Amino acid sequence: MSQPLTIAVSKGRIFKDALPLLAHAGIEPLDDPATSRKLILDTSVPEVKLVIIRTTDVPTYVELGAADLGIAGKDVLLEHGGNGLYEPLDLGIARCRLMVAGRPGAGEGPGRLRIATKYVESARRHYAAQGRQVEIIKLYGSMELAPLVGLADLIVDLVDTGNTLKANGLVPLEHIADISSRLIVNKAAMKMKHAAITALVDRLREAVSQAA
Ligand code: ATP
Ligand code: PRP
Repeated sequence: MSQPLTIAVSKGRIFKDALPLLAHAGIEPLDDPATSRKLILDTSVPEVKLVIIRTTDVPTYVELGAADLGIAGKDVLLEHGGNGLYEPLDLGIARCRLMVAGRPGAGEGPGRLRIATKYVESARRHYAAQGRQVEIIKLYGSMELAPLVGLADLIVDLVDTGNTLKANGLVPLEHIADISSRLIVNKAAMKMKHAAITALVDRLREAVSQAA
């Protein structure tokens, strides 16, 4: 008897980029989350369902076993803390960099810096490693605005093409981490549904190597 599997994924960028990889593993959603209001999507494989949630919630669903597997950006996993999860595969999608950015020359003076970011834990670790005292201001989006209106000296945010920084007169200043989306697996499910999960991980690994 085949085992039921639930995969947590966010709509938007990650869903779009993950679709061809899932298709290679024979999994095609029967609804499009961009147009459907359904939060649980059936797929071409009757035992496999996709749950559609916010990207920052994906590690929580998987760690607590509400989903067996998930797809999440490394940025989100760095914030969540990875101990309760397996991370068997880098899917190589939604690639970007987590960076410190600001106006040219910002952050060079001696005083205590104010850092605006949605990535509080990554920012804290980055400056702790430098032995630098900073004040971190938690934001939920549009970080690039913060230095322009005097809310912060610097931001910690994702950079891909650099167009968003450039459009706002900011420059990348320090590299913190390379980011891509990872397959994550619930630890208990890995034991209880070992055959189904390893088969899926193998098919996805094959899809990733073909896409490279
Ligand atoms: P949600 O709406 O689900 O809360 P979100 O708006 O942050 O989340 P996206 O903007 O689709 O979702 O980003 C999802 C993931 O894609 C991020 O966690 C990151 O790993 C990656 N990502 C974000 N921005 C970029 C970018 N400009 N280029 C490439 N990858 C990116
Ligand atoms: C992300 C990120 C940056 C931008 C960087 O935002 O937060 O603002 O992409 O990409 P770039 O270097 O190619 O310009 P996103 O487009 O996801 O918008 P959102 O944060 O409002 O969802």
